[in-house]
Amino acid sequence: MLRIVVCVSGGGTNLQAVIDAISKGSITNARIEAVISNNPGAYALQRAKDHGISEICISPKQFENRERFNQAFLEEVNKYQPDLIVLAGFLVVIPEIMIRQYPNRIINIHPSLIPSFCGTGYYGLKVHEGVLKRGVKVTGATVHFVDEGTDTGPIILQKPVLVEEGDTPEILQRRVMEQAEWNILPQAIDLIANGKVSVEDGKAVIANV
Ligand code: GRF
Repeated sequence: MLRIVVCVSGGGTNLQAVIDAISKGSITNARIEAVISNNPGAYALQRAKDHGISEICISPKQFENRERFNQAFLEEVNKYQPDLIVLAGFLVVIPEIMIRQYPNRIINIHPSLIPSFCGTGYYGLKVHEGVLKRGVKVTGATVHFVDEGTDTGPIILQKPVLVEEGDTPEILQRRVMEQAEWNILPQAIDLIANGKVSVEDGKAVIANV
């Protein structure tokens, strides 16, 4: 059974997609041990509570400096002995010590087709604003392993989504979630839980799909 810790900062619709996929059996061999948020007001914490999942809030604001927070955050995560850490809309930079401790065991969902519209400054609505500003016709979402860079780790799954006439960043964000994020995040977790993802030569390889 894959032990998962999910880290969230906001509404938690991706967390919900994972919870639902586990309940209906489209993710097998996995269990969410805890949901951790840096934001005490995150609705994602309520979603965890509603499903009887341990929910923890730990914010950089509670610590005198980033190093102290990083240490406490890592200790909190370690308590649950996760096999996989899922960043589902988590707006805190993951400490390098954590990345080193969990190589290819941290995944992130990003709302664009990496390597477009990713990296420093591309988060939340800013991604979709960038897409509309550039006028690309296809965007999408990416699930990738987390390495020391920003959105640079091995890509596990991607799904395209069409940009439509009249899209606003909000409308596009919703379509990318509905058509891509809520599908590929649970799918990637199921693949990992069932031993189907390996990393070779810096690239994620999926077996027998
Ligand atoms: C998603 O768009 C995700 O790709 C991004 O943050 C958003 C989180 O939404 N990293 P939610 O909290 O899962 O609803």
